[in-house]
Amino acid sequence: TWTPENIIDEQVARIRAQIGDKEVICGLSGGVDSAVAAALVHKAVGDQLTCVFVDHGLLRAGEAEQVEKDYVAATGIKLKVVDAADRFLGALAGVTDPEQKRKIIGREFIRVFEAAAREIAAHGDVEFLVQGTLYPDVVESGGGTGTANIKSHHNVGGLPEDLKFALVEPLRTLFKDEVRTLGLQLGLPEAMVWRHPFPGPGLAIRIIGAVDQERLDLLRQADLIAREELTAAGLDRGVWQFPVVLLADVRSVGVQGDGRSYGHPVVLRPVSSEDAMTADWSRLPYDVVARISTRITNEVAEVNRVVLDVTSKPPGTIEWE
Ligand code: XMP
Repeated sequence: TWTPENIIDEQVARIRAQIGDKEVICGLSGGVDSAVAAALVHKAVGDQLTCVFVDHGLLRAGEAEQVEKDYVAATGIKLKVVDAADRFLGALAGVTDPEQKRKIIGREFIRVFEAAAREIAAHGDVEFLVQGTLYPDVVESGGGTGTANIKSHHNVGGLPEDLKFALVEPLRTLFKDEVRTLGLQLGLPEAMVWRHPFPGPGLAIRIIGAVDQERLDLLRQADLIAREELTAAGLDRGVWQFPVVLLADVRSVGVQGDGRSYGHPVVLRPVSSEDAMTADWSRLPYDVVARISTRITNEVAEVNRVVLDVTSKPPGTIEWE
C-alpha cells in the first residue's frame, strides 16, 4: 500500500544497496523534486552525499540565495555552490531552437557536475548522481511506453551519451503530489514543499528567441512582479505554476508617456494542474491580472504589452519551449 512511510523505507533501502559506501552528488535546482530526492538520499547515506547547486544564470530573482540559506538550514546537507553563469550564457549565445537550448543546458549541467565531483572526491571517486526525475518527466521525454518525445527534459533526454555517473532517481515512479507528501514526511519546510515547479533549463526556455543577459534581466523583473502580485492576492496555492514568458523577437507598437514605444510583449501563463501532464489556464481574477499588467508595463523598460495565455494542455504545453 502507498504510504509515505513505506515509500521512504523502501527507497532508503534501495538507495543504500545501490550506493554502498561510495560518494554521491546531487544537483539541487531549488525546486521540490531535487530537494526531496536529496533528502531521501541524505537519509540513506548521510554525509556520503554532497549537493551541488549550479547557478546557471537562468534563475529567477532571489532563487540562488534562497537555496543557499533555506535548504542547508532545513537539512544540514553539505552544499557546494557553483557560479556557472558565464559558461551557460556562452554556450547558449545565439541559440533559438528550443530543443537545442535544452540539450545544451543538459550537457553543461553534467560538465559542471563532473568538475564539481572531481573537487569533492575526497574519499575516492564520485560514481553516483542523484536526480529528482519524476514519472511525468520520463513519459514526456519519450521514456515511457507509447508516447512521443514532446520535450527533452534537461534531466532525461538532455543527458550526454558519455555520462560518467550512474544515476540515482528515487522519484522516478512518482507524481508531484506524492513527492510533496514525501517531502513533508521527511521534514522539509512547507514553503519549500509547496513551491511552484520551475524547469531545470530555467528562464532560457521562457525567452522566445536567443538568450542574453539583457533579456534575462527584463524577464526576471517581469517574473518577480507576477509572483509578488500572485502572493499578495493569496493565490499561490490555487495556481500550479505561473510561467512568465518574454517574446524577445517580437515587437509591437505602443504609446507610453508622451511618445511612441516599440517594445516586447510578455505572456502570463498561469495554469492549474494535478501533475503537469495536463493543465488548464487559471482563471485568475481580472483585477489581479490588471495589476500585474500595469506594473510590468510601468516598471519594466522595453516591455509595452502584456498578454494572457488562455490555452489548456493539450494542445499547448505549460512552458512555451
Ligand atoms: P510542459 O511545458 O512540458 O512542462 O507542459 C511540464 C512540467 O515540466 C516542467 N518542465 C521541466 N522540468 N526540466 C524540469 O525539471 C525540464 O527540462 C523541464 N521542462 C519543463 C514545466 O515547468 C512543467 O511543470
